Amino acid sequence: MEDKKKVIFSGIQPSGELTIGNYLGAIKNWVKLQDQYDCLFCVVDLHAITVKQVPADLRRRTLEVLAIYIAAGIDPEKNTLFIQSHVPAHSEAAWLLNCNSYMGELGRMTQYKDKSQKMGDSIVAGLFNYPVLMAADILLYNTDLVPVGKDQTQHLELARDLAQRFNNAYSPTFVVPEGYIAKEGAKIMSLQEPTKKMSKSDENQNSFILLLDPPEVIRKKVSRAVTDGIGVVNYTDEQPGVKNLIDILCAIKGLKPDEVVADYVGKGYAELKSDVADTIVAELSPLQEKVKELLADKSYLEEVYKKGAEKANYLATKTLRKMQKKIGFIPR
Ligand code: TRP
Repeated sequence: MEDKKKVIFSGIQPSGELTIGNYLGAIKNWVKLQDQYDCLFCVVDLHAITVKQVPADLRRRTLEVLAIYIAAGIDPEKNTLFIQSHVPAHSEAAWLLNCNSYMGELGRMTQYKDKSQKMGDSIVAGLFNYPVLMAADILLYNTDLVPVGKDQTQHLELARDLAQRFNNAYSPTFVVPEGYIAKEGAKIMSLQEPTKKMSKSDENQNSFILLLDPPEVIRKKVSRAVTDGIGVVNYTDEQPGVKNLIDILCAIKGLKPDEVVADYVGKGYAELKSDVADTIVAELSPLQEKVKELLADKSYLEEVYKKGAEKANYLATKTLRKMQKKIGFIPR
């Protein structure tokens, strides 16, 4: 008999327009996982409301993220695609886990420290508890592997701690998840400050390329990308801007940095930039076209997220019931 496939869980917040960083660093790699693993990909809207959202924008972006998953090649038949708030077990399990989490460990989360600093005196409690909800997401599905970027490894570590703590306090309940480090997962940096990660929340619009940016905007942003005065295309930390452009090329074309550098012997940054822009446009155009088609067919998207929620609900509720029983709640 075939071994049971390992379970993968990941999610993206619909809290801003997605950038090519989200795509090249995450979604594009998820596409390659779908045959080998049993994958759940979630649009984590409950996480998104830890910062203020305009309701209409949240609604639009939630569907947009789902459409992007599908347009990128994540097959809704093979994977479970769903919207987090459609599966109440996430909120319920988060409460149970919150009662097993310590203020100290949550207060040490660097993302919390960074984000709460910007909230002045009105730090919402959800921001503090955010990683516990993320742990619930992961643990409810007996997830083996979680593909996350570096900025999320501390949260994943907490999910592991909470799983182990619960297993020890009661009895083995959760699989203790591991991080999944993609072989080719690219970390795309800001085009304006290439030592910082590309972020959709950056104030400088030229620092990121949105997945749904039109071609002329992509070309303009790439042409304005910060480089250096060295003038030679090399892949080194001393030239972070050029390195980032090479990384983008590699991530899209599946090349190695050395191969790109070899192509640009005797050529300048202008040529590199124009090729990077062409490559991005060529990669994103069909995806944008597909996203547009999907967003025009709301009934299909609805079918996908309803079916996904049904599957996810079944799995998540099973785990939630186990938790409740062990904690001492009367079965319903
Ligand atoms: N916190 C993650 C991020 O901002 C998103 C997320 C929520 C997630 N729940 C998750 C990622 C579960 C992986 C698994 O990137």
